[in-house]
Amino acid sequence: MTQDQAAPDSTTPEAAGPALRLGLIGCGRIAQVAHLPAIAKSADVRLVAVSDPSTVLAGAVSRRYDVPGYSRTEELLQAGLEAVLVAVPDRFHRDIGCQALQAGLHVLIEKPAAATSEEAGDLLDMAAKLGRKVQVGAMRRHDPGIQYARAAVEGLGAIASATFWYRLPTTLRASTEAALFPPLAVDQSVRSTEAQFKADRETYLLRTHGAHVFDAVRYLLGDVTQVRAELSRSRADLHWRGSMRTTRAPASFEISANIHANYAEGAEVFGERGAVSIRSYFPFYRQASSVRVFHEQSLEWTSPDYGAADPYQRQLEAFARAVRRDEPTDPGASDGVEALRLIEATAASVRADGRPVDL
Ligand SMILES: NC(=O)c1ccc[n+]([C@@H]2O[C@H](COP(=O)([O-])OP(=O)(O)OC[C@H]3O[C@@H](n4cnc5c(N)ncnc54)[C@H](O)[C@@H]3O)[C@@H](O)[C@H]2O)c1
Repeated sequence: MTQDQAAPDSTTPEAAGPALRLGLIGCGRIAQVAHLPAIAKSADVRLVAVSDPSTVLAGAVSRRYDVPGYSRTEELLQAGLEAVLVAVPDRFHRDIGCQALQAGLHVLIEKPAAATSEEAGDLLDMAAKLGRKVQVGAMRRHDPGIQYARAAVEGLGAIASATFWYRLPTTLRASTEAALFPPLAVDQSVRSTEAQFKADRETYLLRTHGAHVFDAVRYLLGDVTQVRAELSRSRADLHWRGSMRTTRAPASFEISANIHANYAEGAEVFGERGAVSIRSYFPFYRQASSVRVFHEQSLEWTSPDYGAADPYQRQLEAFARAVRRDEPTDPGASDGVEALRLIEATAASVRADGRPVDL
């Protein structure tokens, strides 16, 4: 590592004060798989209560974590909280997020920040008006490997080119999740309702995966000014391929849902003084991304090893610190708006046969 590259802290930083009193809204899959175990491990947050309109899920999670479980959001919001973690389907993010802000609470909201950039803008405006924090759940920003990569990209000088990829497996996904996930409480009626909203795969998959990829592009390279994209299909599999102009560099991206191989996520960035190469893992492995940095002047590679690091726990603790210290959240609501603008621009370019869309 060169001296001008600060290494991110791979350990959990010191708590910024008493544990943040947190309520969980939405007791579905990501809540049970990632957030509840992260909350249970962290000294910086304390789970006070949970809610879900499904009494099956609210009841199961309430019993497992020994906290009150409500079926109505209003009841949860009166449970003596400082903040909520919103893990409900995208179409409810804006209304539930605004409801929590209006109750005077800070909000950590799953990605994408809302169903549209306009709705995410409402969250941004409401948070600014009420002086509350909103953090969006693009948890890769809290992966120490990605934080190292960001500092290294800063040291590359002018960027000539960059590429990002995000590819999900078909068959291997089920067995991988079965090995990694805790036993899940399931409400089949919730599953079948959500399946109807996910049936428009072109919209759903671009939004759910694009929220990660486009946040990563902005985190490493700055704002995007233009997108062009095309969509190809291979039976049920969808592949978005595109190029972007960012304030620092031209970039390309590929989002595949799905590939007939194992999970593949990463990026390569080439600058005038070297290169940064990133390989990320399926997030539920809680393994920090592997990053290799080439320094042309010394002809050396640097490659820190952060071992395992839970990005969901780290994002939660970063949120608690931002609230306690009254600091900006990362990513904030405006980053959530920008990620959605990129998702919408990508969809618009696909509809226009790959014509560039300016942002
Ligand atoms: N960061 C990540 O890695 C990641 C991974 C998966 C999903 N997500 C995001 O998390 C969110 C939830 O996804 P999921 O897969 O857990 O979905 P899910 O359908 O499994 O769970 C959502 C839950 O929200 C509940 N719900 C609906 N309306 C509610 C309300 N008014 N109050 C409280 N609960 C309500 C549903 O009953 C359901 O139990 C989505 O926005 C998704 O994009 C993020």
